[in-house]
Amino acid sequence: MSTSRTGFWMGGAFVVSLALAAIVLLVRGAGSDPTHTALRLTARWAYCFFWPAYTGGALASLFGAPFQELSRRGRELGLAFAAAMLPHAGLIAWLYYISPHPPLPTHSAVFFGAALFLAYVLALFSIPRLFASLPRPAWVALRTLGMEYIALAFLLDLLQNPFHHGLVNLLAYLPFIALACAALLLRLCAYAKRYAGSRARTQAGSANAPMPHAGSRYSQSSGNP
Ligand code: HEM
Repeated sequence: MSTSRTGFWMGGAFVVSLALAAIVLLVRGAGSDPTHTALRLTARWAYCFFWPAYTGGALASLFGAPFQELSRRGRELGLAFAAAMLPHAGLIAWLYYISPHPPLPTHSAVFFGAALFLAYVLALFSIPRLFASLPRPAWVALRTLGMEYIALAFLLDLLQNPFHHGLVNLLAYLPFIALACAALLLRLCAYAKRYAGSRARTQAGSANAPMPHAGSRYSQSSGNP
């Protein structure tokens, strides 16, 4: 994908996220409750980019060709996710500014703060020069840790209070919880498939002469697993 297409996706993700936050705060005021609503909306919007970035590689390795293109778009989707999270970060700063007491317990703030930090570290390493400076194992470890950690942050946040405010509230949560669980399952299946494949190759390798290593291309965009 060209730089301008990447910019288009990042710009679009950011502008819609910002518009969602602005509309809520303009219509309902800039107090704590509307800020919480805006945080929930911007997180859901950002998830629309994170989900395909997170599962694209797994879908491609499980179901093949129809998902190869999605898998190749991992970098662009990840950057769009990071862009869509910027208003979420701005709202967090605003919430801390207007709250007389810290709005989150320290351990939650540290946990989600680390997820946000990882999102922008991954975005930083999408810059080709920085990416090229990182050895392949370090990039794979960083990408795996970052993506799994952010996925966990989404899942835990979405599971916090789906049953508290009636049916409409539940309906706002269920599709996202279902997506988060499906993503986890897809990733686990893809890891299992890859593990089984590498075991089979090792066994075949000990019986035959060594084969050239498939999948050794060092790609920035292909998602885990
Ligand atoms: C990549 C990092 C982050 C992710 C994936 C994330 C995800 C989410 C999600 C999914 C929601 C919606 C929760 C719901 O509907 O109940 C949300 C809301 C919220 N987030 Fe984040 N968040 C992140 C970073 C942070 C950080 C760093 C903070 C603060 C230190 C924070 C504070 C909040 C707050 C206060 C809400 C509103 C919760 C509510 O009113 O129920 N988030 N976030």
